[in-house]
Amino acid sequence: MVLLLSLFALIATPALASRFIPGEERLVRYGPGANETARVRAATLHLLHAVRHGDAKLDLSHPLLMGVHPGVLAALTSTGRRGPGFIDLTEPTLPAFKSASPAVQNELAVEHALEARQSTTFPTANATKYPQLSSTGFFKSISASGLTSTITSLTNYTTRYYRNSNARAPATWIQSLFAAAAGSANVVLVENSFDQPSVIAKIPPKSGSTNTEIVVIGAHLDSINQSNTASRAPGADDGASLHDTRSYASGIAILLQTLQILTANGWAGTRQIEFHAYAGEEGGMLGSSRVASQYKSAAKKVRAMLQFDMVAYQISSTPVVTILTDTSSALQTFSRSLITTYIPEATLYTNKCGYACSDHFSWDSNGYAAISIDESGSNDKYLDPYYHTSSDTLDKLNMTKASVFVKLALAWALELSE
Ligand SMILES: *[C@@H]1O[C@H](CO)[C@@H](O)[C@H](O)[C@H]1NC(C)=O
Ligand SMILES: *[C@@H]1O[C@H](CO)[C@@H](O)[C@H](O)[C@H]1NC(C)=O
Ligand SMILES: *[C@@H]1O[C@H](CO)[C@@H](O)[C@H](O)[C@H]1NC(C)=O
Ligand SMILES: *[C@@H]1O[C@H](CO)[C@@H](O)[C@H](O)[C@H]1NC(C)=O
Ligand SMILES: *[C@@H]1O[C@H](CO)[C@@H](O)[C@H](O)[C@H]1NC(C)=O
Repeated sequence: MVLLLSLFALIATPALASRFIPGEERLVRYGPGANETARVRAATLHLLHAVRHGDAKLDLSHPLLMGVHPGVLAALTSTGRRGPGFIDLTEPTLPAFKSASPAVQNELAVEHALEARQSTTFPTANATKYPQLSSTGFFKSISASGLTSTITSLTNYTTRYYRNSNARAPATWIQSLFAAAAGSANVVLVENSFDQPSVIAKIPPKSGSTNTEIVVIGAHLDSINQSNTASRAPGADDGASLHDTRSYASGIAILLQTLQILTANGWAGTRQIEFHAYAGEEGGMLGSSRVASQYKSAAKKVRAMLQFDMVAYQISSTPVVTILTDTSSALQTFSRSLITTYIPEATLYTNKCGYACSDHFSWDSNGYAAISIDESGSNDKYLDPYYHTSSDTLDKLNMTKASVFVKLALAWALELSE
């Protein structure tokens, strides 16, 4: 109840209202088959999000829930799985969406959903070809304390929720670290309709290369704390026990260290490598949807996309590396060969994640080959039991084990960019 009141307080805030109109209908895709679309008010999505995280009760007589399709209610409030569970299609298709009739709007969404997946084949990992990928090469620079330090800094923000008044700060912080590693000319911000940009760093191909393909490694920079979204007191909380912040910081930590190691060693492949820190994942993959659809409109060729989300909750005696099997099967085969070749110390595990569990689904929806590799599946024995609780803190993580994900990212980058 308290939360419902604060939701309305948030909706009434003029500064936010100018960027984000809660009454506006959003076109969302959802459902286990990714084949359902619906038009749902933004405020309704926000409320369902709160319900799913236990911050509000599902009250079907609530005005925001009247007339909402039962399938939407079920899909967007189901617990025991990860991610928002829907992709907001409105964001990338806004001009077309606004002027289209409801029938065309639905067609637009279905067209996206049914798009043929890119059917590229990928190499089999070959350690002989990449002597750099060894304990005396790039792997020597992997640092568990470097990962810890990134997470400590990111979780120092009161919240990284994309609609918070301070939502921009973590993005510009990542921008500065990307720029220190890759050079500021190689880092761009991709603005969104809310005040949290996505951040992209690139390692351009070596000079003389005519290959226009891009290899993408991504993670999301936002976090969620439904209570905090309404809290507009700057610095009210020093970040001691924030909802979700540390889990979601671990993917960014892997991304940053991989970029740092590649640039410090002067790696350039035949193809461009990009590091994407996405905004607004919790709002329905808003940041990554925008980037992926911009790339598609510009006919950019993305060879493959790898997403890291939560990687550092590691309870087994050996590091667990989980291939999420919802998307590209060709990338699953390739990733499997990378893991067995370059991370023999890891336990390779596979599981489903569930539709729209993280940003790789934005690429998948736009027809690109994409995959996510994480600490666990959606609801299995390796899933962090502290996820979505205030006990989700750094001491529960093992950055030594998580550092195998840097090996994976380095191997991914070399094997695919060459
Ligand atoms: C949507 O996908 C689900 C799960 O794969 C499937 O059971 C259902 O039949 C599909 N519905 C349509 C209309 O294709
Ligand atoms: C692996 O790479 C080495 C060195 O480039 C090459 O000689 C060998 O043929 C490759 N093996 C496979 C199976 O492609
Ligand atoms: C965390 O934030 C405080 C207050 O802004 C700042 O003094 C401190 O240096 C920050 N710590 C880290 C690790 O970024
Ligand atoms: C959100 O963060 C605040 C502190 O900033 C904390 O008191 C609250 O418990 C968090 N909400 C949830 C659902 O964890
Ligand atoms: C993390 O894992 C490493 C390797 O298994 C182990 O040696 C270390 O004690 C663990 N650290 C913590 C804090 O649990």
